[in-house]
Amino acid sequence: MKNRSDMPLGVFDSGIGGLTVLRAIFERLPFENTLYLGDTARVPYGTKSAEVVTRYALNNTRFLVAQGIKLLVVACNTASAVALPALEKALDVPVIGVIEPGAERAAALSGKGQVGVIGTEGTVASGAYERALLAHRPELKVRQRACPLFVPLAEEGWGEHPVARQVAKEYLADWLEDVDTLLLGCTHYPLLVPAIREVTGEGVTLVDSAGVVADAVAARLEAEDLARGRASVQHACFVTDVPDRFRAVGTRFLGRPLPPTEQVDLDPGTGA
Ligand code: DGL
Repeated sequence: MKNRSDMPLGVFDSGIGGLTVLRAIFERLPFENTLYLGDTARVPYGTKSAEVVTRYALNNTRFLVAQGIKLLVVACNTASAVALPALEKALDVPVIGVIEPGAERAAALSGKGQVGVIGTEGTVASGAYERALLAHRPELKVRQRACPLFVPLAEEGWGEHPVARQVAKEYLADWLEDVDTLLLGCTHYPLLVPAIREVTGEGVTLVDSAGVVADAVAARLEAEDLARGRASVQHACFVTDVPDRFRAVGTRFLGRPLPPTEQVDLDPGTGA
């Protein structure tokens, strides 16, 4: 039987954005095999209801589990915010979402105890980051803000464009107030850091969940004795719409050429 540690990590996102998390996993865990699923046919999740996102998340997850994965990473902040309990209940493999590792790091780093959270409408409405932050440090002052225009700007490759800087200013300049730590609660925001930094200045600590999630995955693999030793790796991507746009835009998110990418039909019987 195949060694369990050789099984791939499964990573899913609503689309392209989760490639920032995959990138961090590649850097932190270079000997892990990976399977990435981008639900490009149903993106965006950030504007959809918790009920619908949970259904999509379960659907995506079942596909990855059927491929044989040893651990699931929910790279999408919105899906992590609203669907994690349902996924943990439904699956036999360990599940890691982006909320808890990001919140833990931000709570630890905040000096003055004033934390800002930015994300999609769905992530902000769920209050998941705020709950996780307060569970770590009940005295924190948390403010949240949805920044939906950041997603298309990142996909357009406009992280340093004057328009992105203007949008960042509109969203953040008057809102930041005393925030000392800003949690980037969306897969796309690492690509907007130049524009965000221009508004926050160097005095605000930016916490990007991609890097901390990779650390959390590494810790969990060690704890479960599932880490893979030095060996050649295999990576593959699946998408639910035609792969052209994913391929074109994804390279920028992943920071390297994309693994072989194939279109799949999830649950063709029901279209669920
Ligand atoms: N991946 C989503 C997230 O991190 C952003 C894109 C979307 O709205 O689907 O919340």
